[in-house]
Amino acid sequence: SAAEKGGYDYFMLKEIAEQPKAVADTLLGRIDAGGSLTLDELRISAAELREVDKVVIVACGTAFHAGLIAKYAIEHWTRIPCEVELASEFRYRDPILGARSLVIAISQSGETMDTLMALRHAREQGSKVLAICNTNGSTIPRESDAVLYTHAGPEVAVASTKAFLTQLVACYLVALYLGQVRGTKWGDEIGAVIRDLSHISGEVERVLETMEPVRELARSLADKNTVLFLGRHVGYPVALEGALKLKELAYMHAEGFAAGELKHGPIALIEPDLPVVVVVPSPRGRSVLHDKIVSNIQEIRARGARTIVIAEEGDEAVVPYADHLVRIPATPTLLQPLVATVPLQVFACELATARGNEVDQPRNLAKSVTVE
Ligand code: AGP
Repeated sequence: SAAEKGGYDYFMLKEIAEQPKAVADTLLGRIDAGGSLTLDELRISAAELREVDKVVIVACGTAFHAGLIAKYAIEHWTRIPCEVELASEFRYRDPILGARSLVIAISQSGETMDTLMALRHAREQGSKVLAICNTNGSTIPRESDAVLYTHAGPEVAVASTKAFLTQLVACYLVALYLGQVRGTKWGDEIGAVIRDLSHISGEVERVLETMEPVRELARSLADKNTVLFLGRHVGYPVALEGALKLKELAYMHAEGFAAGELKHGPIALIEPDLPVVVVVPSPRGRSVLHDKIVSNIQEIRARGARTIVIAEEGDEAVVPYADHLVRIPATPTLLQPLVATVPLQVFACELATARGNEVDQPRNLAKSVTVE
């Protein structure tokens, strides 16, 4: 009913709008007054976490994209090697696991069969399993050694939005906590990022307040057949997520590419007027990547693509090459997906509406996939 949707036309719109609160709820009670993380609820002791020699993340769909982003954060802040694998592929390739492997299963519903089978396989090999989950008491956390709940509240729309942002926050918390207990050389950076995370909800809110031009743009593209998404570093999984949202909701052909791969093939797809969304890394910090992606934008625009550029406020280098410019607040590099994904959710939702699709219940899809 309309009341259940809180006055929004669709659950998806409501859930997109709830993201600032959802993100704040994931952080609630997990940062102490001194700015350190308190994750006692993990039930895996600090001593055990110090022994971990490998992290393996298993998940499906949008949760898998959260895992891809988590890998950058975990490896950077902890120096522990991290693999990310589609849960449906995991156990069939005879993965190398042991007592010192920490397996993280990410799932909104906690009932995804592929993810459940992957975690069972990991436990059979003697690995510890930590679930990152949104549904209290569901099967995946019940069968895991420990759980970090995302506390996003119920997600009804089939297309995942607030669950994704809160999975990211939970992954950052795990990465930062591992860094904290292991005392990596990034101590200062970890403290600074925890501070930035505690303000991120307000940044997500600011993005939501500026989405009308994105909706307008989406409506103008309703008769297109294909949209491409490009990103680098943590922007690459964001591009994959943008493409997945568009497939699910708008039933359009969409693909996400690592921008550096463009010249290895995908650039052949570029033709006049093709919409290409580019997620631009911050010009601060890893500026090499920024400059490389700016030349990618130039290259595709020279071939006639219609460039839709998602870039940090104050990034002037992209302005000459952007047919449409979507501004996002400046964040530390690794946290950018929390703000960069939001315009892509809004874009897909609006395109679905413009194409007359069922937003909350896309064809052929189920909210949780409980078969293999
Ligand atoms: C996301 O928009 C999808 N509907 C889907 O990819 C989903 O993320 C996937 O099926 C995993 O679900 P889970 O998080 O409940 O395990």
